[in-house]
This record gives sequence, structure tokens and C-alpha cells, in this order.
Amino acid sequence: MQIGVFDSGYGGLTILRQIRKLLPQYDYLYLGDNARAPYGSRSFDVVYEFTLQAVEELFDRGCPLVILACNTASAKALRSIQQNDVPRIDPDRRVLGVIRPTVEALDAVTDSRHIGVLATPGTVKSHSYTMEVGKLYPEMIVTEQACPMWVPLVENNEALSPGADYFVEKYINSIMLTDPMIDTLVLGCTHYPLLLPKLEMYAPPGVRILPQGDLVAESLRNYLARHPDIVSRCSQNGTVEYLTTENTDKFDDLASLFMGQTVKSTKITLT
Ligand code: DGL
Repeated sequence: MQIGVFDSGYGGLTILRQIRKLLPQYDYLYLGDNARAPYGSRSFDVVYEFTLQAVEELFDRGCPLVILACNTASAKALRSIQQNDVPRIDPDRRVLGVIRPTVEALDAVTDSRHIGVLATPGTVKSHSYTMEVGKLYPEMIVTEQACPMWVPLVENNEALSPGADYFVEKYINSIMLTDPMIDTLVLGCTHYPLLLPKLEMYAPPGVRILPQGDLVAESLRNYLARHPDIVSRCSQNGTVEYLTTENTDKFDDLASLFMGQTVKSTKITLT
């Protein structure tokens, strides 16, 4: 009875790493749909269809709770899955996303109340961040910037190569030009923390970069504290298992790098 963690590719590992740091006692099942990543430029319908397949796979493997560790999937599929699919498949299971916990944390970190969101084209098009911020903190000004080249850089292990600099600088300059009052840049895509060294190089001084891992982990801890029924169905042996839809050699090499420990994955097909 593992906790499922899903992403289109490697990005969700940045969330899993922080969750495991805070909640090491649970068993986790990570699923990366690497063969079909990136999701960020795919249509609403396709992201929903792929995400639902992943959730069903993780449910079939026994997960009572699945975290969509992917903003694109959270933006485009979470609500439908929570409202229509989970009640139909098994009303006792739960699926949670990453956008709400990120937005909730903003109040404590911004002084200027001007927020920048760096995300995939799909997440930006959905305006999920602007809408969620509007619900909680209507006075905040949100600027969203699509960064279509960043996920491909990460998926191809080019995040720290000299070629990445051009695209990191380009999108950061663009969002800061749109609103120079921004004091917090939300990394609204779970792949982006892998670009952190470059992001810190190009963000203007005094502008805070906000990755989501810690925020999602803390939110999960709170959620579990409030849901003993779910906790009682989660096994606690401190293990983690990895599934990928791509070649396992490629996944294992990169995932081991990102997780800082040896990863041995199993290849599966999603239908
Ligand atoms: N890690 C994903 C996100 O948070 C996804 C990106 C993609 O596949 O484009 O949005």
C-alpha cells in the first residue's frame, strides 16, 4: 500500500525527494511517463487522458493515495479526476495536486505582493495559478511566463550544460520585464528545480526563487495528520519503487543523479 507519486517524467523526483526527507517512514511508488514527456505543450484532453491512465495504474497497484507531482497534470486533470473519476473508480482513494499547496505558501514569502509564475505552456494557458492566487489572496498581482524549453533541457540531461543559459536568461528576463515589482518567482513546474543553479545566476538580486518540493511535502504531512483513515492504509517500511514508461537504463542513470542514490526502475506501458 504505497503512496503513488506521478509525473510526466523526471520532474516529480524533486517532489519525491522532499517528501521522503519529511516522511521517510512511508512506502512510495514513483511513476514517470518519460516515453510521453513533455506534457507541457499537449492539449487539455491528452494530458487528462494520460494522467488518468497513470492514476488508474497506481490505483491498480494498490496505492490508496496518489500525488500528481506535476503542475501540468494538476492544472489540466486534477479537478476532473477528483470529481468524476475517483468516485467512479473507488471513492475511498485520494488524488492530490501541487498547485494549491504552493499558492497557500505565498502569503508568507512575498513583500511586494507581485508574484511571477514560471511554468509550462499548458499550466500557463490554464491560468490555474492566477485563479488559485485570486481565491486566496485577491490583492496579489500574478504574472505567468511559459518556459517551453526548460523541460526538454531537463529530460535530456542538459539542465546544467552551457546551452541551458540562453533559455534560462531569456524567460527570467521576459517575466521581470513584464513586472519589475515581482519579488517571488514560483517554479510552477516540478522539473525546474533541476535548473536551480542557473536560475539563481539569472534571477535579479533580491528576487526569491520558490521551488515546490518542501511546500508539497509539508502539505502532505498536514493532510495525513488530518486523515488517519488514509494513514492506516499506507504501509510504512521506508521503501521506494520506480516505474517508467521509457527505457529503464536511461531512467535509472538520470534518476540516480537526481535522487542522489541508486535507482532501479521497472518499465511499464500505460493504456
Ligand atoms: N513536471 C511537469 C510540471 O510540473 C511537467 C512537465 C512537462 O511534462 O511538460 O508541469
